[in-house]
Parts: sequence; structure tokens; C-alpha cells
Amino acid sequence: MTWSILFILGSLLTDSALGWTYHYSNNTMNWTQARQYCTTYYTDLVVIQNQRENDYLVSTLPEKNKSPYYWIGITKKTRTETWTWVGNNSTWIGNQSWAENEPNNNHSTEFCVEIYVNKGRNRGKWNDEKCSFSKHPACYKAQCNETSCVRGKCQETIENTTCLCDPGSTGDRCETVVECPTLSHPDNGYLLCSGGNQTFNSTCLFECHIGFLLIGSSALTCAATGDWSGPRPTCTSYKQALMALAGCGAFSTLCCICLCWAKHRKRNKLAQVRQSEEAITPPSEVQG
Ligand SMILES: *[C@@H]1O[C@H](CO)[C@@H](O)[C@H](O)[C@H]1NC(C)=O
Ligand SMILES: *[C@@H]1O[C@H](CO)[C@@H](O)[C@H](O)[C@H]1NC(C)=O
Ligand SMILES: *[C@@H]1O[C@H](CO)[C@@H](O)[C@H](O)[C@H]1NC(C)=O
Ligand SMILES: *[C@@H]1O[C@H](CO)[C@@H](O)[C@H](O)[C@H]1NC(C)=O
Ligand SMILES: *[C@@H]1O[C@H](CO)[C@@H](O)[C@H](O)[C@H]1NC(C)=O
Ligand SMILES: *[C@@H]1O[C@H](CO)[C@@H](O)[C@H](O)[C@H]1NC(C)=O
Ligand SMILES: *[C@@H]1O[C@H](CO)[C@@H](O)[C@H](O)[C@H]1NC(C)=O
Ligand SMILES: *[C@@H]1O[C@H](CO)[C@@H](O)[C@H](O)[C@H]1NC(C)=O
Repeated sequence: MTWSILFILGSLLTDSALGWTYHYSNNTMNWTQARQYCTTYYTDLVVIQNQRENDYLVSTLPEKNKSPYYWIGITKKTRTETWTWVGNNSTWIGNQSWAENEPNNNHSTEFCVEIYVNKGRNRGKWNDEKCSFSKHPACYKAQCNETSCVRGKCQETIENTTCLCDPGSTGDRCETVVECPTLSHPDNGYLLCSGGNQTFNSTCLFECHIGFLLIGSSALTCAATGDWSGPRPTCTSYKQALMALAGCGAFSTLCCICLCWAKHRKRNKLAQVRQSEEAITPPSEVQG
């Protein structure tokens, strides 16, 4: 039992840790056919983005001691165009990428590139060649697909795929929507949350029963961090609120009633206007 669970966990981790893989054919073909071969059986001709990838690719391909070597996925259409990788139009070329005196456009229309995989000092270097020449295709297979990351972008390297999650989502596959701490309705009030849930981007509206005053913000939004945009508001009876504000709790009942009654009348008129001012009154002041 324990072993099978460990095994399942282990294989999942191994899978998610793998990035793209390199492949080749023992047959030789022109560059166009090589690309066709790669897109048919894998993803495309290899795209190289840095020296480390170049070295890794060379280490995985069988060595040849003479031409033909391998086609890679960089090409141009005319002499003046810049060299461009297939797939995403990237134009990366390292300082060490070309072999000595290359690209030389020796045959005047050398618009495709081979990579030397040999034991010589050219090992891992590139050479421009005529696209009609026959060489082995060097392909890659991407592990990222549309379903790899539920709410985010899949990013892969040679040994690793990672989901870059959109704000408000977490998990290896960004499968979890961030949840904010559950809010309950305030005593003497109502709570209404958009979509009926309290997850990232939900907005919850607070309202008090008639005769009660909302202290705090009437709307809270769940942020990507899993925090509400502010503290939970409370509903206080007008009497309680006014008593606290007037600070007359300790005075005689009469004094208090007089004071409160006067304030109450004034307040009723201004209730709408004052609501926002009171939002900044800390609730602790009014609980007495
Ligand atoms: C690459 O560039 C070509 C021509 O400019 C364009 O048609 C194509 O959509 C681009 N591809 C990507 C993935 O950006
Ligand atoms: C182009 O694609 C390669 C391989 O998929 C990737 O590593 C690289 O980051 C991409 N480059 C750009 C500029 O998008
Ligand atoms: C140019 O191509 C010719 C064959 O057409 C070949 O003999 C020669 O070695 C090539 N030169 C270079 C610098 O690759
Ligand atoms: C590649 O080979 C195919 C089939 O023989 C041919 O139709 C195509 O023109 C060739 N392409 C190049 C660039 O030589
Ligand atoms: C997409 O990739 C995941 C791994 O990231 C894999 O488990 C799944 O089978 C792939 N789906 C398709 C349709 O290729
Ligand atoms: C996988 O790639 C991500 C980003 O590309 C990086 O942050 C992470 O450390 C890598 N993990 C491993 C095991 O290489
Ligand atoms: C939250 O509500 C929205 C809108 O109704 C819905 O699309 C989403 O699936 C809900 N999220 C969760 C985690 O229930
Ligand atoms: C969150 O809400 C904003 C504004 O309502 C909207 O533009 C955005 O797309 C939402 N994000 C998600 C992930 O639902």
C-alpha cells in the first residue's frame, strides 16, 4: 500500500520534472523534408536558445565522423534576412555558435544550418548549408500542451516544465483558485458574494438590518494573495454607535438620552453622507 502510493507520487514527480526531449532520424533528407519529418513525429526541428541547450543537444545525438551531420531549426529566406528559428521567430545566436569562418554562404544560397556532431574541434558548431542538401533531422518534442497548466503559462527547458500561474491561482498545474478566509454575515446584517463563492476576484457586499449602521467598508474583494481588501465590517445599532461616539456611557441616563436623541435626528439626515466617514472609524471604538 505505502509502496504503491510512493511509486505513484514518484512517477508523477518524474513526469512533471521532464522538459522537452530531443530526437533524430537515421535517414537523411533536405531541410524542408527534415522539418516535415519533425512536425509529423515530434514537435519541430530543434530550437536552441542558449549554449547549455546546444551542448546538451550535441551530447544526446549520435556522433558522425563526416558529413552528413544534422539539420537544426534555424533558417532565412534571402541573403539579407536575419537568421530566424522555427516556431517562435526567435533570433538567438551565441558568440560561440558558428564554426570558424562561418556563415560563409559558400554556395551563395546557403539559407539552412547544420550542426556538427563529431569529435573534432568543430563539435557543436554551426555551418550554413544549401537547404537542398541531405542531412539527418534533429527534432524536439515539447511536453507542454494546452492542458498542462489550468490557469497559467507552461514554460519548458531541457529538463523541466513549469507552470507560471496567473495571479490568484496556485498548484503545480495552477489548478487551485486562491481562497480568502470564509466570511460569515455580520450580526444584524446580510452578506452577498459574487458567484456565491469567496475565491480570488470575488466581491462580497455587506448590508445591515434596518436600524443598524454599517461600520467599515460595505464591499470587500478577495485579492490574489488570499487576503480580503479590508477588515470585515460590523453592524451596530444607532443607539450603541451614538452612545459610543458621544462618550456618554458613564453619564446619567438622562444626559445620554438627551444627547443621543439630538444627535440621532441630525444623524438620520446625514446618514448617507456620513457612511463613508464612519468607514474609517475603528470598530473597537464603538463596541462600548
Ligand atoms: C513569425 O513571423 C512570421 C512572419 O513575420 C509570422 O507570419 C508568424 O506569425 C510569426 N510566428 C510567431 C509564432 O510569432
Ligand atoms: C522560443 O522557443 C523556445 C523553445 O520552445 C523557447 O525556449 C524560447 O524561450 C522561445 N523564445 C522566445 C523569444 O519566445
Ligand atoms: C565551398 O564549396 C566547395 C564545393 O562547392 C568546397 O569544395 C569548399 O571546400 C567550400 N568552402 C568552404 C569554405 O566551405
Ligand atoms: C526537398 O525535397 C522535396 C522532395 O524531393 C522537394 O520537393 C523540395 O523541393 C526539396 N526542397 C529543397 C529546399 O530542396
Ligand atoms: C499534456 O501534458 C500533460 C503533462 O504536462 C500530459 O499528462 C497529458 O497527457 C498531455 N495531454 C495531451 C493531450 O497531450
Ligand atoms: C524549473 O524551471 C523553473 C523556471 O523555468 C525554475 O524556477 C525551477 O527552479 C526549475 N526546476 C528545476 C528542478 O530545474
Ligand atoms: C466562483 O464563482 C464563479 C462565478 O460564478 C465561478 O465561475 C467559479 O467557478 C467559482 N469558483 C469556485 C472555486 O467555485
Ligand atoms: C478579475 O476581475 C477583473 C475585473 O473584474 C477582470 O478583468 C479579470 O479578468 C478577473 N480575473 C480573473 C482571473 O477572473
